[in-house]
Amino acid sequence: MTTTNRWPHAFFAAAALYAMIGVCWGLAMSITKDHATYSAHAHLNLLGWVSLALMGAFYALLGQGVANWVKLVNFSLSNLGVICMISGLYLYLGQKGPASIFGPLLAVGALSVVAGFLLFGFTVISGLIRKPAVAA
Ligand code: HEM
Ligand code: HEM
Repeated sequence: MTTTNRWPHAFFAAAALYAMIGVCWGLAMSITKDHATYSAHAHLNLLGWVSLALMGAFYALLGQGVANWVKLVNFSLSNLGVICMISGLYLYLGQKGPASIFGPLLAVGALSVVAGFLLFGFTVISGLIRKPAVAA
């Protein structure tokens, strides 16, 4: 197996990790009836699980021509973004920490998430323009 082929698996592994944490978080909210952090749970599942799995699916299906550094930067930005944004949201919504901690976490997290999506979007669209898919 080449290094290139491992990138989709890395995206799916990260997504699966976030899904495991996300559904346990949902279960904990249901059991305790404390929904204060629901938006952090929602974004962990939607950004961490759904979005990273979709990126991994793209790289598995159509990412052969994409340079490895693009996948590395996409992976790093998106994961840094999820980790910082969700921990910042957890501290903020759950009132577990001061603004001096959750503020920078939210700023770095949101900007990294957006940068990861911009790089991914540019990669998907420029790939289509450079090398149109052969008609089936
Ligand atoms: C065992 C699995 C899960 C449980 C027990 C669970 C539980 C919950 C609970 C208790 C809330 C708060 C509802 C509220 O206060 O309005 C919530 C919200 C939410 N969850 Fe989950 N969840 C689970 C899995 C997921 C998954 C896999 C996703 C997405 C892929 C997801 C997406 C969302 C979203 C988007 C919201 C916010 C909905 C809104 O705006 O009201 N959840 N979940
Ligand atoms: C940098 C990325 C993102 C930022 C900064 C962001 C920010 C926000 C904000 C400020 C809200 C309103 C929360 C409230 O009123 O309490 C929200 C809600 C929501 N967002 Fe996002 N969002 C991001 C990415 C996404 C993505 C990628 C998805 C879906 C794949 C998503 C799905 C939702 C949903 C379903 C809600 C309603 C449920 C909730 O309040 O948590 N968001 N988001």
